[in-house]
Amino acid sequence: MHTTLAAKLAHAGQILPILKTERLTLRPFVFEDAKDVFDYAKDELTALYTTFSAHTSLEDSYYFLFEIVLPSYLKGDLGPYAIDLEGKVIGAIELRTIPSPIRNHAREIGIILNTHYRGKGYMNEASKALIRYAFNETPIYRIFGCIEEDNKDSVRTLEKLGFTYEGRERHGRTLKSKYVDLLHYSLLKSEWGG
Ligand SMILES: CC(C)(COP(=O)(O)OP(=O)(O)OC[C@H]1O[C@@H](n2cnc3c(N)ncnc32)[C@H](O)[C@@H]1OP(=O)(O)O)[C@@H](O)C(=O)NCCC(=O)NCCS
Repeated sequence: MHTTLAAKLAHAGQILPILKTERLTLRPFVFEDAKDVFDYAKDELTALYTTFSAHTSLEDSYYFLFEIVLPSYLKGDLGPYAIDLEGKVIGAIELRTIPSPIRNHAREIGIILNTHYRGKGYMNEASKALIRYAFNETPIYRIFGCIEEDNKDSVRTLEKLGFTYEGRERHGRTLKSKYVDLLHYSLLKSEWGG
């Protein structure tokens, strides 16, 4: 079964242009990345503010590749991209479509990095490349992020990229069975200098 899905994933991923930065390659995920995905997604702290629970086995990472990534590629999302550092996938980045024809110009950013590769500016570098591509080569005009109020690292990453704080969505999501506020940030093409 994995062989058929792996072929589908490889085929669907061809929709994404490969983006190169000084240190990184942003490329579509392939079946063989499951182990690297597991490496970052198994960490409870990394998964604390994400939409998924920490992966407990490689099967969870295959689920991510085949049930999350593959449908995203088929839907035409800009990602999830694998962030590849010298052959190792150290994280992921995506610009998700919003299911509404009047919001076709907007995308929601999603970012995640293996804990061992943080504090080195890799997400900043990857984000700039993807945002540059989105604003210069596609009709995308607005990129936004909704960050849990305690997720300071993500807030810092978006602020360093020039995102503007828009406001607080009170009790916008549940986290460990509690309501938590979401901080809304956005970046418009007209503001993007890089
Ligand atoms: C959000 C996340 C990706 C940020 O990772 P990060 O490594 O801090 O991201 P950045 O690439 O922005 O790195 C910036 C840091 O690298 C430092 N840095 C070192 N070398 C650098 C370079 N060459 N260029 C830029 N920054 C550099 C910066 O000074 C900054 O340090 P600081 O955090 O002390 O200010 C990470 O914390 C994460 O994966 N969190 C869990 C997942 C998550 O919650 N996702 C969001 C769900 S909404």
